[in-house]
Amino acid sequence: MYAIRLHAFGPADNLRYETVPDPTPGPGQVRISVAAAGVHVVDTALRRGRPGPFPVPELPTIPGREVAGTVDRVGADVDAALLGRSVVTHLGGAPGGYAALAVADVARLHDIPDGLDAAEAVAMIGTGRTTVGILQFADLGPRSVVAVTAAAGGIGTLLVQYAKNAGATVVGLAGGPDKVERVAANGADVAVDYLLPDWPERVRARLDGRGLTEVFDAVGGPTARAAIDLLDKGGLHLIYGYAGEGPNDIVFTEDELAERGITSQTVLGPPMLQRVGGDIRVLEERALAQAAAGRLRPAVQRFPLSDAAGAHRALETRATMGKVVLVP
Ligand SMILES: NC(=O)c1ccc[n+]([C@@H]2O[C@H](COP(=O)([O-])OP(=O)(O)OC[C@H]3O[C@@H](n4cnc5c(N)ncnc54)[C@H](OP(=O)(O)O)[C@@H]3O)[C@@H](O)[C@H]2O)c1
Repeated sequence: MYAIRLHAFGPADNLRYETVPDPTPGPGQVRISVAAAGVHVVDTALRRGRPGPFPVPELPTIPGREVAGTVDRVGADVDAALLGRSVVTHLGGAPGGYAALAVADVARLHDIPDGLDAAEAVAMIGTGRTTVGILQFADLGPRSVVAVTAAAGGIGTLLVQYAKNAGATVVGLAGGPDKVERVAANGADVAVDYLLPDWPERVRARLDGRGLTEVFDAVGGPTARAAIDLLDKGGLHLIYGYAGEGPNDIVFTEDELAERGITSQTVLGPPMLQRVGGDIRVLEERALAQAAAGRLRPAVQRFPLSDAAGAHRALETRATMGKVVLVP
């Protein structure tokens, strides 16, 4: 089969499109003929040799943990009725998604709901479950005034939709005019380019004196600091990613936040995401159900599997909108 393999940690060019032996499903496993494979920010860090929620892999490795497609082979003890089923899965600890064929545990499979294509299902299994997990930490309603950073991104797109569905006023912050246009089209009441130095003033002007009640923050650093400044007393700063700027650049101390009556909550990685919802599978089910019902509509940017390096480069240079998906 064709797959992307990494032989040495380093730049995106190290991702090689190669022919490798077909994988065989073991007990309790199926093999999936991959129609879509998710690319995650974490994949780019692991490629560089930086551990995150997952340890750095042994090399060579086939990256990728989010897969959707059709079951084409079953393990010895697995019900043959699964053959031909359209499924989506998060592979968990064992990568192998950037490939024409991937092996997955039966216990981790979900049927792709009607109305979703494989790429959309892949977006919901990782990005969607994270979004649903993050949302457990906020109580959004018509009185909420919510800011979302990286609002044109995979998670950001879904957070904007969820907050709008909850009746909130939504401020979508994104880098550059094309992304701002996308964020506005996705339903944000206020869409602002936070690459402009005066973006906080622009948000203030558009909100007519109202402060924010929640900031969903994927960026950290000076952007987070400026967003915290826009929060009302009693507001919530929810950190779920750092996107390169680093959490330590946030200059507010705990005391300063307390003085201003602001709570800062960090929600990172599966253990935090599943804290409220229990098993992470529950979050996956919820995410897929919300998409099937049309309440969340994932945005997807497709790349051919052979151009995984291009997909990584685009993600790292902030050149993507929506969830990045590889198509074999
Ligand atoms: N809490 C968790 O368990 C969890 C799980 C998954 C992902 N995450 C984090 O959530 C965030 C969003 O994930 P996603 O998958 O939806 O990605 P994404 O938003 O689709 O892509 C990342 C976006 O971050 C923004 N960004 C700002 N500064 C950046 C920088 N220095 N380098 C690269 N990007 C930068 C860019 O948007 P702009 O150009 O608009 O700024 C970029 O498009 C990421 O930080 C990710 O690590 C957290």
